[in-house]
Amino acid sequence: MNVLVTGGGGYIGLELCRQLLERGDTVRVVDRFFFGDAPLARLAEQSGATLTYVAGDVRELDPAWLEGVDAVSHLAGLSNDPTAEYNPEANWQMNAIATERLAEACKARGITRFVFGSSASLYDGIGPGMFDEQTAVQPRGAYSLSKKYAEDALLRLGDARFAPVVLRQGTVYGWSPRMRFDLVVNTFLKDAATVGKLYLHGGGWQWRPLVDVGDVARAHIACLRASADLVGGEIFNVMQENYQVRQLAMLVAGSLSLRGRVVTLEEAPLPKLVRDYRMSNLKLTQRLGFTPAVTVLESIDAMLQELPLDDVGWLANPRWYNIAWMSLLEEVHAAQRAFPTIY
Ligand SMILES: NC(=O)c1ccc[n+]([C@@H]2O[C@H](COP(=O)([O-])OP(=O)(O)OC[C@H]3O[C@@H](n4cnc5c(N)ncnc54)[C@H](O)[C@@H]3O)[C@@H](O)[C@H]2O)c1
Repeated sequence: MNVLVTGGGGYIGLELCRQLLERGDTVRVVDRFFFGDAPLARLAEQSGATLTYVAGDVRELDPAWLEGVDAVSHLAGLSNDPTAEYNPEANWQMNAIATERLAEACKARGITRFVFGSSASLYDGIGPGMFDEQTAVQPRGAYSLSKKYAEDALLRLGDARFAPVVLRQGTVYGWSPRMRFDLVVNTFLKDAATVGKLYLHGGGWQWRPLVDVGDVARAHIACLRASADLVGGEIFNVMQENYQVRQLAMLVAGSLSLRGRVVTLEEAPLPKLVRDYRMSNLKLTQRLGFTPAVTVLESIDAMLQELPLDDVGWLANPRWYNIAWMSLLEEVHAAQRAFPTIY
């Protein structure tokens, strides 16, 4: 299968590309490479001609990207609340409008399968409960509003010729060659390794659905390959388990203490924006026979194989934190505009 992975240079995208290549699929990546293309270039080198990539912005769709493509996994865009709130208009154009346009272009070209990386954060703000794909969502922030618009646009396009699939991915954890340390488990691991202290805001009682990065990639592949009557026009929640934040802190602290590190947990006040929701992944299991299985504990162990605990200086690099990196890029661009001769 020839698969186009948008955002294939990102945290989830790289693992998805790796798994597709491992299966023998051919992969084309389109990515703006906000975080650089070095990990993807390494993967391309290992894979030979089966992975190609183009630097491009999904807001400026080039029909050539779709040539020879059988299916699309669409992951490109701003990928969390802080970056979406930083520039809501850019977020809307990237996450909502560009997704709709890309899907329309795929349909017009006869590319029938389009798997979309949406977000479980759509369930935030409803109140207590266990949510499934039937739940009426009430998105409130720029990020979730744009994901909801994209979901609705895709599902409207679905018919006998076009099978869009929406994956509401839980918060992801685990190791990827393009690492993110701004996701709850990964952040705890970084804090435990660098300062030995984890803060539990409001006691850390908040619930979050979580999933390993490898399992998210497996969910995309399952949906790329399943027959259209099973997945076309469907939404699937993708998570391994619902965890309370304090549970995650204890799992990280315990894993580090087994390696001789002292990690303390401390109470902290609740921030203004608190995310607290649970969801069910039953539909994914029942419809596709696939259940994300890599636990937080297993994933922490795998991350610790990659993370040199005796040299944690590199963790301070802003590249691993989306909002820190995007604000830095903005500053550099502003400086380039103000002082063109320096550059
Ligand atoms: N990581 C999570 O916990 C999580 C959870 C739910 C949903 N998601 C969604 O999954 C997708 C991938 O997330 P991720 O964690 O890999 O994020 P990421 O930020 O690591 O990757 C996103 C990639 O998209 C690229 N990109 C951004 N805007 C682009 C544009 N306009 N044109 C082309 N490329 C662009 C970036 O350069 C980056 O490589 C995102 O859509 C995100 O909203 C992620």
